[in-house]
Amino acid sequence: MAASPWIAALGGLTAAAFEGSDVITDPKDALSVLDFEEAAHHKVGGGHWAYMTSGVDDDGTIRANRAGFQHVQLRPRRLFDATKVDMRTELFGTTYDSPVFLCPTGGEKSFYVDGELAVARAAKNRGTLQALSSTTSTGVEDVNKAHGSPVWYQLYAPSSFAVTEKLVRRVEASGCPVIALTVDNTTGRNSETYKRLRPKDVTQCGACHEGEPGTSIKERRMYDGIDMTGVTTQNPAMDWAFVDRLRKIVSVKLLIKGIDTREDARMAIEHGFDGIWVSNHGGRSTETLRSTIEALPEVVAEAGNRVPVVVDGGFRRGTDVFKALALGAKAVGIGRPFLWGLGAFGQAGVDRVIEIMQGELKLVMGNCGTQTVAKITRAHVATPDWRS
Ligand code: FNR
Repeated sequence: MAASPWIAALGGLTAAAFEGSDVITDPKDALSVLDFEEAAHHKVGGGHWAYMTSGVDDDGTIRANRAGFQHVQLRPRRLFDATKVDMRTELFGTTYDSPVFLCPTGGEKSFYVDGELAVARAAKNRGTLQALSSTTSTGVEDVNKAHGSPVWYQLYAPSSFAVTEKLVRRVEASGCPVIALTVDNTTGRNSETYKRLRPKDVTQCGACHEGEPGTSIKERRMYDGIDMTGVTTQNPAMDWAFVDRLRKIVSVKLLIKGIDTREDARMAIEHGFDGIWVSNHGGRSTETLRSTIEALPEVVAEAGNRVPVVVDGGFRRGTDVFKALALGAKAVGIGRPFLWGLGAFGQAGVDRVIEIMQGELKLVMGNCGTQTVAKITRAHVATPDWRS
């Protein structure tokens, strides 16, 4: 198993985790979220697996996201009663059980039959924020119901502003408190590993997909009832003037997802965003080779106390989450780990992935003398100088 090409493509980290051990058959047997990766690989269909696991170009940014954490060291403080660790986190007026949240990922039914609903039920069970993708395979209203409270909605702005407005109106009517506009994946991407790994014969994909797999809006519930003739789901012409127009029609909190520099953080605040989401799309958009944990400090420095900053990309350990909180993130998103849990075991897998991430975070908070998330500060980590 350790010799498998896709594991090698991910840099050998996973290979090391699996060497000499069996693939888990029960979520309870997982010791780390990495244990779900191979379990999901066994269950998820070849093309869907290729889609989930791949990055762009040489997948170097996927590896960089993980490698970045190696450069951040913990500075634990001792003798602060570790029996009283409280991970609760408040974001835009809602309190969650921990700062770990679930990122938007498209078409979750392609990984498990009840997709987004399974994710929502697990998130509800663990008091966890869920962000729903624009390309969800389940309508936002049903997801909100399963989650027990409205989720965040991730917006890919279509090429027509009228269609964008229709999506915004539907999402706001469903009660979502936050819309996050994704800006890092609007111009197309070089998904080379996906193309190499997916089955050569895609005729069977025709049973579910129209045309090229993954591109049909008929599988995407948020476009139901909208005339998409001549409209693309993403808008490569999007610019700051578009943002100004969007800001005027969005009445809930508006975040920007996919910011990696202080310059864009400044622009985002000037153009009225309520929060910034540091992300490189899990290494799936541009081969920057720069991890998000390295990009985070400059964005946080620019944001100051003006708007909250959240981050995602390669987070697999409670210590990874702790490092981001110490560097100023208010919350930390995970993508593939919960998809592995979903693909392997449905709701029970997602539930266990969240449980492990929360458990590891609680442990490191206790070990570093931080009883609350607010007490995790810059002084709890040492970093190299990452200035550009
Ligand atoms: C994504 N991501 C994503 N982001 C987004 O804004 N809209 C989307 O529809 C999707 N879809 C999607 C599908 C799959 C299969 C993956 C793996 C990722 C990116 C996602 O929100 C997040 O930024 C990354 O997944 C975080 O990195 P990790 O945790 O996967 O390393």
